Amino acid sequence: MDVFHSSLCFIHLSQSTMNSRSLFAFLFAICAHSVAVADTSSAYPSIPGTETGECSLRGVGVGDGVLVPPRREVYEEGRIFDITHRYVPEMPVWDSTEGLGQHFLWLDKSMKNGSLANSSNMKLGVHTGTHVDAPGHFYDNYYDAGFDVDSLDLTLLNGLALLVDVPRDKNITAEVMRSLNIPRGVSRVLFRTLNTDRRLMFKKEFDTSYVGFKEDGAKWLAENTDIKLVGVDYLSVAAYDHSIPSHLVFLESKEIILVEGLKLDDVPAGIYSLNCLPLRLVHSEASPIRCILIR
Ligand SMILES: *[C@@H]1O[C@H](CO)[C@@H](O)[C@H](O)[C@H]1NC(C)=O
Ligand SMILES: *[C@@H]1O[C@H](CO)[C@@H](O)[C@H](O)[C@H]1NC(C)=O
Ligand SMILES: *[C@@H]1O[C@H](CO)[C@@H](O)[C@H](O)[C@H]1NC(C)=O
Repeated sequence: MDVFHSSLCFIHLSQSTMNSRSLFAFLFAICAHSVAVADTSSAYPSIPGTETGECSLRGVGVGDGVLVPPRREVYEEGRIFDITHRYVPEMPVWDSTEGLGQHFLWLDKSMKNGSLANSSNMKLGVHTGTHVDAPGHFYDNYYDAGFDVDSLDLTLLNGLALLVDVPRDKNITAEVMRSLNIPRGVSRVLFRTLNTDRRLMFKKEFDTSYVGFKEDGAKWLAENTDIKLVGVDYLSVAAYDHSIPSHLVFLESKEIILVEGLKLDDVPAGIYSLNCLPLRLVHSEASPIRCILIR
């Protein structure tokens, strides 16, 4: 892990000698963050509802006969990071103080009541938890024309991605986008913001003060970068007060895919292979999505 971090920093720093000062700052931030995370990785499992990393070794009942299911955030000491949130009752839901609640999942047929197997049902808003938006979300004509989640390009949802740290004191404006200095040719970027530090996705009450893209930030991205997949760490890519205009800018071309509600806690910034798979919900403008990062 340490070797990976130092080599990543080396590559970035040597690139920076050829580039602008802001690129240097940006890459330095990546390296500094990587090192910081590497130093604290023994404390990695900080996600509520999970035990220490050792639980992954106790997936089957042995010895005392107690069955303990494995629940992991990270596999093989950081080769794979699960960046999807668990669906749990305390998960926040857009504009609600109540969170997802108990009733989204229920055991419809149960062995305790004589059925041959347990079988659950669920009822869930398609924008709940880690999810993807399709162009039909904010454009009614695209919705009618069938630009649903089943029409999203899997080649964009899967491939090399950059996880970057955004300055913590601002929403994502044109100025912030410019300062990140994301090179041309980078087509997938996951933006980690103050939302992750504030652990907003672990708070039941929806918080309108989350960080997201302002309209000018969305425009800057669409006009000046090759980014076609935008990932963020709360329920919307758009800042609350720019919810409609920012979505309109992103979705207008039908070429940019928005992945929202990612779990970016404790993942070193850098380059990964991103793998995201939504459900094939025909006619739906969004879907829960499972995303992982692989080194
Ligand atoms: C079993 O059936 C009873 C009576 O219909 C019902 O009240 C109870 O919730 C059921 N339990 C489960 C686990 O399905
Ligand atoms: C079936 O569901 C019940 C809850 O009614 C649970 O206690 C039991 O462990 C489940 N059985 C299996 C085989 O998953
Ligand atoms: C981001 O914008 C929201 C309004 O949409 C605001 O409440 C919040 O304070 C802003 N955050 C920062 C860090 O400026």
